[in-house]
Amino acid sequence: MIRDKGCGEIRESDIGSNMSLAGWVFRRRDHGGLIFIDLRDRSGISQVVFSPEVSKETHERAHDLRSEFVISVSGEIRRRPDGTENPNLPTGMVELYVKRLDVLNGSAPLPFPMEEAAEASEFLRLKHRYLDLRRPELQRNLIVRHKVSKIMRDYLDGKGFLEIETPMLTKSTPEGARDYLVPSRLNPGHFYALPQSPQLFKQILMAAGLERYFQIVKCFRDEDLRADRQPEFTQVDMEMSFTDRDEVIAIVEGMIKTVFKEVLDIDIGSPFQRLGYSESMERFGNDKPDLRFGLELKDMADLAAKGSFKVFLDAVQSGGRVKAVNGKGMAGLSRKEIDMLTEEAQSFGAKGLAWIKVKNGFESPIAKFFPEDVLRQMADRLEASDGDMMLFVADKEKVVHDVLSRMRLELGKRLKLIQPGFRFVWITDFPLFEWDDEEGRFQAMHHPFTSPADEDISKLSSINDSELQTPNSPLASLKAMAYDIVLNGYEIGGGSIRIHNFIDQHKMFKILGITDEDARVKFGFLLDALEYGAPPHGGIALGLDRLVMLMVGAHSIRDVIAFPKTQKAVCLMSGAPSIVEQKQLRELNIKTVITD
Ligand code: AMO
Ligand code: AMP
Repeated sequence: MIRDKGCGEIRESDIGSNMSLAGWVFRRRDHGGLIFIDLRDRSGISQVVFSPEVSKETHERAHDLRSEFVISVSGEIRRRPDGTENPNLPTGMVELYVKRLDVLNGSAPLPFPMEEAAEASEFLRLKHRYLDLRRPELQRNLIVRHKVSKIMRDYLDGKGFLEIETPMLTKSTPEGARDYLVPSRLNPGHFYALPQSPQLFKQILMAAGLERYFQIVKCFRDEDLRADRQPEFTQVDMEMSFTDRDEVIAIVEGMIKTVFKEVLDIDIGSPFQRLGYSESMERFGNDKPDLRFGLELKDMADLAAKGSFKVFLDAVQSGGRVKAVNGKGMAGLSRKEIDMLTEEAQSFGAKGLAWIKVKNGFESPIAKFFPEDVLRQMADRLEASDGDMMLFVADKEKVVHDVLSRMRLELGKRLKLIQPGFRFVWITDFPLFEWDDEEGRFQAMHHPFTSPADEDISKLSSINDSELQTPNSPLASLKAMAYDIVLNGYEIGGGSIRIHNFIDQHKMFKILGITDEDARVKFGFLLDALEYGAPPHGGIALGLDRLVMLMVGAHSIRDVIAFPKTQKAVCLMSGAPSIVEQKQLRELNIKTVITD
C-alpha cells in the first residue's frame, strides 16, 4: 500500500504507530539538522520530519525535494514537542518521522508558487488549472458541489422524481440567448443546437406521463459573460405534472433546506419570503434584490413637483421617475469623491446624480430649488439624518431602476451594511410580457411556454389582434404564473406553470410574432404533444453554479467549476475553441469566411 491514511487524517491516537502517507510537497523548511515538509493531499496537510538520527540516507535525499514533488513516506507518528503544536491544523499535534522515502514523481519549476496561488493571475491559474485545482480552497468548492448534487439527487428521488437525460444535439430552445450550433455531417447544411435548457423535452416528458422529472444538466448559451455567467453551466432542472406554483415552491424550499443543513449545517428558516415583481422593482430597482441590507429606493416625484429643479420636473413630465436612495453617513464626501460617484452612476446609464447632504440643514447645489419643508420631507422619507447624503436619479423608469439598484448595491458594500448569512426570496407575479423597444413588440418575460396567471388566462384569448403590438396594449398588464428564486442578490433559479393546451400556446406564439409556420418548424413536436392530452404541468431550474458559489462564499462561478472559460469563452488550458483542419470542414460541407 502506498499510504495508510490521508495526510489530513493522522491524530494523537496514531502516536507510536508506523504509517505511510503520500502526497505533494507543499512547504519545505530546512532547520539545519532537521528538514520539515508539509505534505498535502486532498484530505489535508501533515508535517513530516526528516532527521539524520532516524535515517541518514533519507535525510540526505530530502534536500533534493522540491515544491509539488509527489512522494510517499513511512515512519513513526510522534507527538510534536511542547510549544511546536499547531492548533489550527487537525493534524497539528503530531508529525511523522520519516524512515523511508519514495519519490513517485518530480515536478518542473512551478509557474506560480503554490502557497500564493490564490494571488497569481487568473490567466496563469486557468492555464495551469491542474495546479490551481490543487488549492485546498478550490478542492473544498468542488467537494461542496459534489455534496450538493448528491443530496439534491437523493432528495428528489425521495419525492418521486426520475432523473432522465435529454439530448445535447437538439433543436434551438428559446431561452433568449444565442445558440451554440453543431454542424451535421450526415445532413449537409443542417445544424443541431446545443440546448439552452431542456425546457421543451421536460414538457414532452410530462405529456409522456412521466409525472416527475429532474436532471442535473449542462446548458449552453452564447451570451455576454460575467462573474455569474458561463457559456456552459449546470441547471438542476425539474418538471412536475398535476402541480401548482405553491407545490413547486415547497419542493424547492425543502430541497434547499436539506442541502444547507447537510452540507453547511445551517438551518434556513422557511417558508422563504415572497415579494411581488412590482414591489421588488419599486423598493429595490430590480427583480433580484439583496435583502441583507436596507437602503431602499424611495419615490420622490411628488416632492420634486413642489420644487423648481428642471431636471426633476422634466423627467416626471415626460413620463419618467425621480427616485432616491440614502447614502448613509456620506455627508463627509469631498466634491472629488462625489464626482467619482457621479461618474459611476453615469457608467450605469444615468445622465447625472443629484445629491443633497444632510449636515446642520441641507447642503447641495440643488437645495435652492426646494423649500426647506420639502427638503425635510425628502429626508424623512429616506430616513436620512445628520451626516447622510440623499442621492437622486431622474430619468425613464428603466434607467432610474437600473442605476439606483446598482448604486444601492455599491453603497451597501462600501458602507459595509451587508449582513452575513443567506437571504432567500421568491419573486412572484411577473408580467407575462415585456415590451421590446428595439423590436417594437412584446417578448415573453420568462419564455413562451409560461402560463398566464389564472385570472388572466381568459383575457389572453379575448385580446383582439389590433390591440396587440403597442406598449400600452392590455397585454402589458397580464401577469405570468412564473417565479424566480433569489439568494443574496443573485437569481439562482426560475420557473413557471406552463401552458398545457394547444389553443393557448398557439395564441401565445401569435402574440410573440412567431408565425404558424415558424412555430411548426421550431416547436411542432411540443404543439403536437399538447394536442394529445398533455396534463397540467410546471417546473423550475436552479443554477447549480450560482448556488454553490454563494454557499462557499466565492465571488465568481469560475471558482466552483473545474474547467471554466474566460470572459471571451476561451478555455485557457485546452485552448478551445481552436481552428480545425480543412479536412474536417470539408467533411462537414463547411467553408469558413472570416469577416473583419
Ligand atoms: P432560466 O433561463 O431562468 O430558466 O435559467 C435557470 C437558472 O440558470 C442559471 N443560469 C446561469 N448560470 C450560469 N451561467 C449562465 N449563463 C446562466 N444562465 C442561467 C440562473 C437561472 O436562474 N427552462 C427555464 C426553467 C424553467 O422554466 O423551468 C430556464 O432555463 O441561476
Ligand atoms: P446640472 O443642472 O445639469 O448642472 O445638474 C445639477 C446636478 O443634477 C448635478 O449634480 C447633476 O449630476 C445632476 N443631474 C443631472 N441630470 C440628472 C438626472 N437625470 N438625474 C439626477 N441627477 C441629475
